[in-house]
Formats: sequence, C-alpha cells, structure tokens
Amino acid sequence: MGQKIIVTGGCGFIGSNIVTKLVCEGYSVKAIDDLSAGKVEYIEEPMKNKERCTFVEGSIMDSKFLEKEFRNYDAIIHEAANPDVRTSKDNIFKDFEINVLGTLNVLQAMTNNKISKVVFASSGGTVYGETKVIPTPEDHRLDPISHYGASKAASEQYLASYASLYEIDAISLRLGNIFGPPSNHGVMRDFFLKLKKNPQTLEILGNGKQIKSYLYVDDCVEAHIRALQTQLSGHTAFNIATSEGVTVNEIADGVVAAMELENVEYSYTGGERGWAGDVRKAVSDTTKATKALQWKPKTSIKDGIKKYISWLEKEYQ
Ligand SMILES: NC(=O)c1ccc[n+]([C@@H]2O[C@H](COP(=O)([O-])OP(=O)(O)OC[C@H]3O[C@@H](n4cnc5c(N)ncnc54)[C@H](O)[C@@H]3O)[C@@H](O)[C@H]2O)c1
Repeated sequence: MGQKIIVTGGCGFIGSNIVTKLVCEGYSVKAIDDLSAGKVEYIEEPMKNKERCTFVEGSIMDSKFLEKEFRNYDAIIHEAANPDVRTSKDNIFKDFEINVLGTLNVLQAMTNNKISKVVFASSGGTVYGETKVIPTPEDHRLDPISHYGASKAASEQYLASYASLYEIDAISLRLGNIFGPPSNHGVMRDFFLKLKKNPQTLEILGNGKQIKSYLYVDDCVEAHIRALQTQLSGHTAFNIATSEGVTVNEIADGVVAAMELENVEYSYTGGERGWAGDVRKAVSDTTKATKALQWKPKTSIKDGIKKYISWLEKEYQ
C-alpha cells in the first residue's frame, strides 16, 4: 500500500494540485483545509477515489483537531497559510497566527503522532529580501522585507529546531512565484482581469522592471513529490523556481500575447516596487534542487502563461 500523506491547505491552488498528483501516484491522501480561500471542488477529481482521497474541514489553528487527524499518517505536506504578501503588512497578527503559530501546531501534532517527514511551502521570493547575490543560493542570509517573508523565515527556523530535537526529516521548499490553474491570485490573473475589462491599456504596479523567478504549478508539484520521496536528515531548504529572472513587463507581454491582443499601452503606478514589501529583484539559484532532488522545471514561462491564460479564459467567459 502507498504511503499515507496529509496535505494542509489541500483545497488551495498549490495544495489541490499536489493532492491530485499524489492520488494519481498511488498515495493515500487526506486534505485538511478551513476553506477560507480554497474550494473542495478543486479536488473533486481525486475525491472520486474514495478509498485514497478524503477531505476534512478544519483549521491548523486547532491543535487538538490536528493531533487527531494526523493519527496513523506517514508524512505531512504543509501548504496552509495566508499567502498574500501585500496584505501581510496590514494583517500582522493574522499573518503571524496562521503562518507561524499554524506551522508550530502542525509540527507539534506531527511529533505527538511520531511522524518524521514534513515538506513545507516556504517562499524564495521573500525570505532573502533585497540581495545583491543574484541568483540567490539557499545558504544566503535570510533578511525578509515583508511580514509574510518574516513568517516564512520564522517557520523554517521552527522546522530546523523540530528536526533537530525530534529527528524529523524537514524540507523547506522556497517557492518562486507559482502560477497556473486554479490560482485566484497573482500578477498574471491581475493582468488578465484588467485586460478583459479594457484591452487597450494595462496598469502595471511599480515601474515594470521588478525581476522575479516564476514557475508553472506542475513543476512546483513535481518538486514536492521529489522532496517527499528523497530521504534526508535535519532541516534542508531548496529553492524551487526557474533560475532565470523575468521582469513584470515581460509577464505583461506574455499575457497580452496569450490573449492575442495587440497595441496594448502600458501605464505605470511608478516607483521600484509594486507595493510595500515587494522585493525588486528575486531570482533563485536552483542548483541544489537539481542535484539533490533530481528536479528541473519542464514548462517554459511562455508555455505556462499560455496554459494558464487559456484556463482563465474558460473560467471567466
Ligand atoms: N502561490 C505562490 O506563488 C506561492 C509562492 C511561495 C510560497 N507559497 C506558499 O505555498 C502555499 C500554498 O499557496 P497557494 O498559492 O496555493 O495559496 P492558497 O490560498 O490557494 O492556498 C492556501 C490554502 O490554505 C487554506 N488555509 C488558510 N488558512 C488555513 C487554516 N488556518 N487552516 C487550514 N487551512 C487554511 C486556504 O483555504 C487555502 O485553501 C502557502 O503556504 C504559500 O504561502 C505560494
């Protein structure tokens, strides 16, 4: 029988894709989600396999609930979080509670159930903050400039202490900007919706020159599976993204091309950042994941944008 895996945030964008893939690969999966952002319909397909896919509604803030639900499981993939960098400045305590205390609850429920493997969704675009070392390797100092980035860095530190105290194999995947179905946030969807409203002009936050590492969701899911299947010890962090940076202007060009629009005029809100806490340049060095996890992205940014826009076109027709 395949391993039994819990996916927290299993009805969210990335979580639902992970649940679907795990069930296809023969694992038994329980998705846990409070449905604050996720939808059960995102895992409708894997849920058809009733023996190997279940869903339980509940919050990672409820430690008793986690302790009970984690019983007799082999590993945890921890995705549940407030994933919004922009709102983390205004919702400091909510961000801290869900992202840091929630992670602590997950780690504690794991150790109480003697579960010794966790894969955690950290953030390569925010934990390093502003750095001159581009592309940035994992051993670079963590110096976040957003509360969201701080919450992910703090969670990683708890993964490290739990890994050391309880002999847990804890892997932090420092994800780049992940995009694809069924994401309901992010720059590409913002551009798509703006262009649907007005196909002549597009407002871009900042000066359009911010450079980030992006990654299509299928490649992100594959990295989670590789991390789950690779036996390591202690806490290990991996950057998971494409290692070439893409500017916001290039993303706008990709969305315009995928929507088959022409002569779209760009306007800029100005400044070097899209919002407070927006890192101007965040490009990940992914050499470590290539070597240790045998992982490499397969989908080009251009092809990924096409796939995602074609899905958005169906969603919003
Ligand atoms: N999307 C990205 O580009 C990106 C980049 C870096 C890291 N991440 C991280 O990856 C993970 C998944 O992100 P996503 O983009 O799929 O976001 P998402 O909002 O689609 O998924 C998060 C899920 O967690 C659930 N959730 C929130 N609070 C919860 C709680 N208290 N208890 C139980 N469930 C709760 C939500 O309902 C949602 O289904 C997050 O940890 C996020 O910080 C995402």
